[in-house]
Amino acid sequence: MIKIKVNPENPEEDKIRIAGEIISRGGLVAFPTETVYGLGADALNEKAVRRLFAVKERPPDNPLIVHIADFDDIYKISEPNAIAKKLIDQFFPGPLTVLVKNKTVPKITTAGLPTVAIRMPDHKVALKLIEESETVISAPSANKSGKPSPTKAIHVEEDFRDEIDCIIDGGDTKIGIESTVADTTVYPVEIIRVGAIPKEELEEYVEVKLADNSKNPAIKYTHYTPKAEVIVLVGNEFVEKAVDIARDLSLKGKKVGIAGMNIKLDEFVTFNLGRNLTDFARNIFDALRKLEKCCDVIIVQGVEERGIGYTIMDRLSKAGRVYRI
Ligand code: TXA
Ligand code: MG
Repeated sequence: MIKIKVNPENPEEDKIRIAGEIISRGGLVAFPTETVYGLGADALNEKAVRRLFAVKERPPDNPLIVHIADFDDIYKISEPNAIAKKLIDQFFPGPLTVLVKNKTVPKITTAGLPTVAIRMPDHKVALKLIEESETVISAPSANKSGKPSPTKAIHVEEDFRDEIDCIIDGGDTKIGIESTVADTTVYPVEIIRVGAIPKEELEEYVEVKLADNSKNPAIKYTHYTPKAEVIVLVGNEFVEKAVDIARDLSLKGKKVGIAGMNIKLDEFVTFNLGRNLTDFARNIFDALRKLEKCCDVIIVQGVEERGIGYTIMDRLSKAGRVYRI
């Protein structure tokens, strides 16, 4: 595996070209996007995608997002309708993935579904990599199935090491939580996975509803599960309640970590998630990954389920149990 460190704001062309060639030859390259790191393969190369599924330990019935850098590629690989075009116009490049009618993407990438998931990342490194590879890139989040998504190159390295060919280190990802996946082949548009773009923001342009869980191919697989037990506390006086529970668990011999906004305690291992929900989203997966290394139980502050807070609570409820206090 080779590691390539690049300037995220102004990626060095010669460095990205090396990674692009690895993709063209059927290899696996992890790269930063504005949401989380992705593990990329040529979306049109069945053999490469098969290896991607194997390395990620991903069940074959859970399809991949195809990442594009050029609007024309949308029409080469799919047939977007008027609703899709409206959302693409508004949100590409950015953390919205649209499901549109598939045209030329191999079945292995789409898990045999009639739709294909397309996204144009808002990240210079990702866009340059796609251009240099001269194809379109299928990329799930670059974590082993069931682990928290990676927001730093080191997270990818910890999960895969020499199982992949290259990691492009473009620093920490800005948003820290995955894209919103929206099915544009139905109306109202259905959100298959809540994500970085809140439902409220999509509603400014189209009618939207949350899809029934049965439409989400990933729902039956556990997600975002750290090795430690995760307890999410929603309500006022988080610190006081968390400390009470932590003391109790400590007496039972458990090592406890606490993650919350503006938190710092001497008695327990803490992870400060920042000052607001934007910081929280950016830091939460790193917090889970760091705390699981030293703790048996992680107590996390719950947040109000509005805007990005809704997405944060979606991820936390998959990582552990939510208690209203
Ligand atoms: O922000 C992101 O979306 C990141 C970065 C790397 O782009 N990618 C990501 O990919 O989170 P992944 O594979 O971890 O999650 C993609 C989700 C899965 O839940 C999958 O089931 C869903 O998108 N998906 C993909 N294609 C689909 C399709 N045709 N129909 C329904 N769901 C689909
Ligand atoms: Mg994922």
